[in-house]
Amino acid sequence: MEILGIDVGGSGIKGAIVDSKTGRLLTERLRIPTPRPATPDAVAAVVAQLVHEKGWQGPIGCGFPAAIQHGRVRTAANIDPGFLDLDLAAHLADATGCPVYALNDADAAGMTETRFGAAKDFDGVVLMVTIGTGLGTALFSNGTLMPNTELGHIYLRKGVTAENHAAGRVRKDEGLSWSEWGDRFNRALQQLEALLWPDLILLGGGASKKFDRFADRIDVRAEVKPAQTLNEAGIVGAAVHAAELAREASTR
Ligand code: BGC
Repeated sequence: MEILGIDVGGSGIKGAIVDSKTGRLLTERLRIPTPRPATPDAVAAVVAQLVHEKGWQGPIGCGFPAAIQHGRVRTAANIDPGFLDLDLAAHLADATGCPVYALNDADAAGMTETRFGAAKDFDGVVLMVTIGTGLGTALFSNGTLMPNTELGHIYLRKGVTAENHAAGRVRKDEGLSWSEWGDRFNRALQQLEALLWPDLILLGGGASKKFDRFADRIDVRAEVKPAQTLNEAGIVGAAVHAAELAREASTR
C-alpha cells in the first residue's frame, strides 16, 4: 500500500511516499523546518504544505514526539503545550483533507526496525531508544509493539530523568565529549535494562550514527546495535502503522 509517511521532529518535519509492504521510499524525502513557535496550527500548515508539494491524496501516517493514545496527544515534554489532549489525527485530517493515523515517533522508528531493519524477524524483547532532542523509547515482544512506553522520563536519581541527563540535546547543550555523554547514556540504559531485560537494544536518532564514538562506554548485558534505517525510520514506521490501521478500517 502507498502511504505518505510524516515524521514531526523538533527541527524538521519530514515526509515521503512509502511502499508500506517493502518499507521503501517511493519519492525523495522532503524536509521543511519546524515552524517556531510550533503551535498545532503552524505544524498542521507545514504538514498541509508537505501533502501539497507531494501532490498526495490518500492515507497519511504521522509520527509525533509525544504519547499518542488513539490519535490524541497525551504528553507535551518537548512540544508546544497547545498540543496537550488535542486529537492530532483529526486536526491534521482537517488541514489536509486526508485520513491521518498518528503514533509516537519512537514507536514509528521501532516499527521500521522490527519490520525491515536490525530487528527484522527477531524473536524476543527489543527496546529501541531514539537519541535526539528527547529520549524516545519503543518496546516490542516478538515484533509486537507495546505503544507509548515513554521510558526516557524514568528518574535516574532524585529530580533527574534519563532524558534530562542523557538526551542528544544535553550532549550539545552541556558541551560533553562523546565519552562523557556515553557514560551518562550508559547509566540510563543500565536502568532500563534492570527494569525490562530486553534481549536486544537498538539505538536510533542522530547520535546512533556516531555509535563508534561511545560504544566503549556502554556496559549492559543485552546486545546493543545502531538502527539500520536512520533518516527514514520515522517516516517509514508511520506509513506502516497507517497501512495497518487503514486495512483494518476497510475490513470492518
Ligand atoms: C517524548 C516522547 C518522544 C521522545 C523523542 C520525549 O520527550 O516524551 O514521546 O518519543 O521525546 O522524541
